[in-house]
Parts: sequence; C-alpha cells; structure tokens
Amino acid sequence: MDTREAIETRRSVRDFTDEPVSDAELDELIEAAIWAPSGLNNQPWRFMKITDRATIVGLSGLTKYRGVVAGAPALIAVFLDETAMYDRTKDLMSAGAAVQNILLAAHDAGLGACWLGEILRNREKVEKLLEVSSDLELVALVALGRPEPGERAGVRHPLESMMLPPPKFPLGTDP
Ligand SMILES: Cc1cc2nc3c(=O)[nH]c(=O)nc-3n(C[C@H](O)[C@H](O)[C@H](O)COP(=O)(O)O)c2cc1C
Repeated sequence: MDTREAIETRRSVRDFTDEPVSDAELDELIEAAIWAPSGLNNQPWRFMKITDRATIVGLSGLTKYRGVVAGAPALIAVFLDETAMYDRTKDLMSAGAAVQNILLAAHDAGLGACWLGEILRNREKVEKLLEVSSDLELVALVALGRPEPGERAGVRHPLESMMLPPPKFPLGTDP
C-alpha cells in the first residue's frame, strides 16, 4: 500500500472477527514499531504481545471500552522503559510514533487496530495484571484483529482551521 494511502485510509477498528492474529503477524507489527524515530535514537519503548483469553478479559474490565478489548483476538501493550528515557515529553512522542507505525502496518497487512488510551486511568492495575517491572510505564494498548466488514468514516476538521498565522513582524522588521 502506498504510504499516503495508508495514512489516509487507516481507521480505528473496534469490532473484530474471531480469527486469531498469529505471533508472526504481531512480530511484524512490532518490527514496524521499532523503526519509529526516537530522540537520540534511545528507543525507549517496550512491547508485550497478549493473546491469552483470560488476560484479555481481565484487561477489558479496566476500561470503559470493555467491548473493544474483550472482542480483540490480540493486544499489544506499549510501555516506556524508565531506564532508557531521557526526556519525558520526547520519549512519549517517540512512543506515539511507534504506536502509529503499529496502526499503519496493521492496516497495510489487512488487520484492524484501535489505539486505546482510556485504560491508562487504570495504568497501575494494568501493569500489575501484566506483571511488568516497576521500570515500565504503560503508555498505550492497541487492540488488533481482522476487521468486521463495514464502513468506518474518517472525520477531520478542515486544514485551514488548524493553521496559525505566521508572525506579523518577522525577525528584524518590528517597527
Ligand atoms: C492517544 C489516543 C487515545 C485513544 N484512546 C481511545 C480509547 O480509549 N478508546 C477508543 O475507542 N479509541 C481511542 N482512540 C482512537 C480515537 O478515538 C480515534 O483515533 C479518533 O476518533 C479518530 O478516528 P480514526 O482513528 O478512525 O481516524 C485513541 C486515539 C489516540 C491517539
């Protein structure tokens, strides 16, 4: 798939068929994630593949998007590793870029994905359930599976509404 096409046609998918996502497919997505840029190339992200039903059901109870999580045959949990971090803002942005790579790679592979952030309100409970070390901070959960057929509309504000005017007095011309 063309990059531009992938960016514009990717949609959040919240309803999945029961067909499993293989370990190799999940590895492909994580491989895409690790090619994201990061400040100083510090690669502060860590990933966990989750396909165990009981674990998925347990996680589903920790978000109001229970149905999305419970209905997903696979999840990828994305963490920041405190021992690899150097700047919280930049590290979070790097992790976000890694998550976006997962979403785009999933779309390219014919999978559906949804970035889940609401569950972060129960971050500590998730970390406990997943038995991760205290150096790791959950930053996102991605639900994955094969999309149920159906239209998923993409909605964006017009570009103009996002634009700021350039400075009135470029450097040196302030009267
Ligand atoms: C940081 C972040 C957190 C999100 N959290 C959730 C979530 O908890 N539940 C959910 O259903 N979608 C979540 N989404 C998906 C957004 O709702 C979705 O990307 C947005 O509505 C635009 O739709 P699109 O992805 O189909 O273009 C999240 C997206 C981002 C980037």
